[in-house]
Amino acid sequence: MNHRRKSIVRIMMCCGALFLVYPVMMLSCSKVQHFELSRFVAPDVCGGCHDAIYEQWKNSMHNLSQSDTLYREVAFAGLKGLTDSGEIQEAEHCVVCHNPMGYVSGFPTKTSHEQQDDKIPAVTKEGIQCDFCHSATGAYRIYNAKIKLEPGHGEANPGIKRGPFGDSKPDFHTSAFSEFHTKSEICGVCHDVRHVAFGTKLETTYEEWTKSPYNSSDPAKRVYCQGCHMYHRPGIPATGSTPRPENPGVAAAGGPERKHIFTHYFVGANSFFPALKGDKVKAKMAVERLQNAAELAIDDSAVSTRKLFILVKNTGAGHYLPTGLTDVRQMWLQVVVKSTAGKVVYATGQPDGDRYLAEGTILFNTVFGDGNGKKVTNIAKAREILSDHRVPPGQALKETITIPSGIRGPLQVEVSLLYRSAPQKLVDSVMGKGKLILPVTTMVTAKKRITM
Ligand code: HEC
Ligand code: HEC
Ligand code: HEC
Ligand code: HEC
Ligand code: HEC
Repeated sequence: MNHRRKSIVRIMMCCGALFLVYPVMMLSCSKVQHFELSRFVAPDVCGGCHDAIYEQWKNSMHNLSQSDTLYREVAFAGLKGLTDSGEIQEAEHCVVCHNPMGYVSGFPTKTSHEQQDDKIPAVTKEGIQCDFCHSATGAYRIYNAKIKLEPGHGEANPGIKRGPFGDSKPDFHTSAFSEFHTKSEICGVCHDVRHVAFGTKLETTYEEWTKSPYNSSDPAKRVYCQGCHMYHRPGIPATGSTPRPENPGVAAAGGPERKHIFTHYFVGANSFFPALKGDKVKAKMAVERLQNAAELAIDDSAVSTRKLFILVKNTGAGHYLPTGLTDVRQMWLQVVVKSTAGKVVYATGQPDGDRYLAEGTILFNTVFGDGNGKKVTNIAKAREILSDHRVPPGQALKETITIPSGIRGPLQVEVSLLYRSAPQKLVDSVMGKGKLILPVTTMVTAKKRITM
């Protein structure tokens, strides 16, 4: 019997047994585990002893993953007008990562459940939280939140919390060393997103990292997600181009002094939502991070043909730049050419009065298609990747600007790499015009005098 037949038979046997032993199927076929919500402990209880870690995590994008208005509006808009069953399946799948504790405990198990706000248990609204991550024991697959959990039994019997130490002796809970927590896979389990019906790769941060120089075969050179993101703290962006010093201290009130305590700010590039919650510290950290992610260079060697080359190098990120939700994120080049008198003679990438970007702007992003080459913006409809123009880790992309004829003389060229979490046009369309203005961060700028 060939391999394919064998596995079909295996699936049939597995799904046949399903009618007899439903709980077994829950684990072995569909990999959906179910736990009573009462088995988990709320984050403020953990914060009672792990106060510094709790403060770092509070208002992080993990804490805000369910309440984040941009996520909610995009998810609810995405549910509308779908008829294809695969598309509906994907549109209903958001909660598996954005409200993971609700998903494994029975409500909300679908995106549309999120619209019944009064039915959602308050603790699950705290998003990706302490007892979810620290109950993890491994993963079935490194995508779509296929994580293995073994939670305790609530505050009375919190069970084992897994982490990086091998020798900790807390009294509230027991603890155990977990290799899974020390490597990129615990992050990759959610930071690799595939369309649940069509398999389209929607977010590939983990996969990008696995192919990057940071996933070095030399353990001394290897930098896991944690090596940047859980060394990050105010004033210490901890990127590929900046030092990543250890953070000595204690993990819990009264705990022993240790040489490194992993930070829990989980700051990426989003400066906006933490700021909206009044968390200026994380907003500033996101800007610091973005400003240590890339380098720009202007090459005027072909200026006689009116061409300018702009090199965009990813020096700081352990994955593509940008990464994650790159059909939505906007990272682009703004080029302004001025005469010696200061008059703008050529510009591209400047947002208009509505803060929208013009067609033809040099954007670094991913575009999804409907399977017939037509662009789609609702990820539920994404059957193919039409284009992927982003900067791989450690590498540079060369962009070309053509200065229109007629412009001549000595000129000053200023190029900036700009970042915004989403197009203002998208935000206006899902939330109403002018309701929410997303900030634009200047990541890096380069200047050069040229003569045309
Ligand atoms: C997204 C998953 C995730 C969330 C949410 C999370 N942690 Fe962690 N935590 C980790 C990982 C991963 C490590 C270990 C990193 C390593 O070893 O590389 C860790 C380490 C720890 C440690 C060991 C000390 C240290 O920081 O090095 C403690 C204690 C801890 N976390 C408590 C908490 C508490 C309390 C919360 C909630 C306020 C929390 N964690 C939320 C993933 C998470
Ligand atoms: C009553 C105080 C207290 C509470 C409440 C508490 N912890 Fe701890 N925890 C500790 C102490 C003390 C340590 C040991 C610190 C050390 O050895 O450096 C610890 C260690 C840990 C570790 C590291 C385990 C290892 O061996 O790597 C993790 C993870 C952790 N706690 C998670 C949690 C989570 C999640 C919660 C909430 C469900 C929580 N803790 C609630 C006191 C507490
Ligand atoms: C070498 C350091 C480094 C490593 C390793 C690293 N990152 Fe990052 N990460 C960055 C920098 C710098 C940024 C800010 C620039 C950007 O947005 O890509 C960032 C941004 C992000 C963002 C926000 C992206 C956006 O634009 O919305 C996410 C999410 C993220 N990282 C997750 C991860 C995960 C998951 C891993 C491991 C698989 C990881 N990172 C490994 C440095 C790193
Ligand atoms: C249970 C799923 C899950 C796990 C596990 C997880 N993440 Fe996340 N992470 C998310 C989601 C969902 C968001 C986005 C929330 C939002 O923007 O609404 C996010 C956001 C982030 C951001 C902020 C991105 C930005 O735009 O600023 C960073 C950084 C990040 N995660 C890093 C990590 C790292 C490092 C790990 C591993 C230690 C990890 N995550 C584990 C689901 C997860
Ligand atoms: C397998 C896990 C997973 C699933 C399923 C998932 N997401 Fe996410 N989502 C993430 C991660 C991880 C991020 C953070 C990536 C980044 O910062 O670029 C994120 C970020 C977002 C953001 C950006 C929020 C912000 O404030 O910047 C939006 C919007 C979003 N997701 C919408 C959705 C929608 C809509 C669905 C369902 C159709 C969905 N997500 C399903 C993991 C997931």
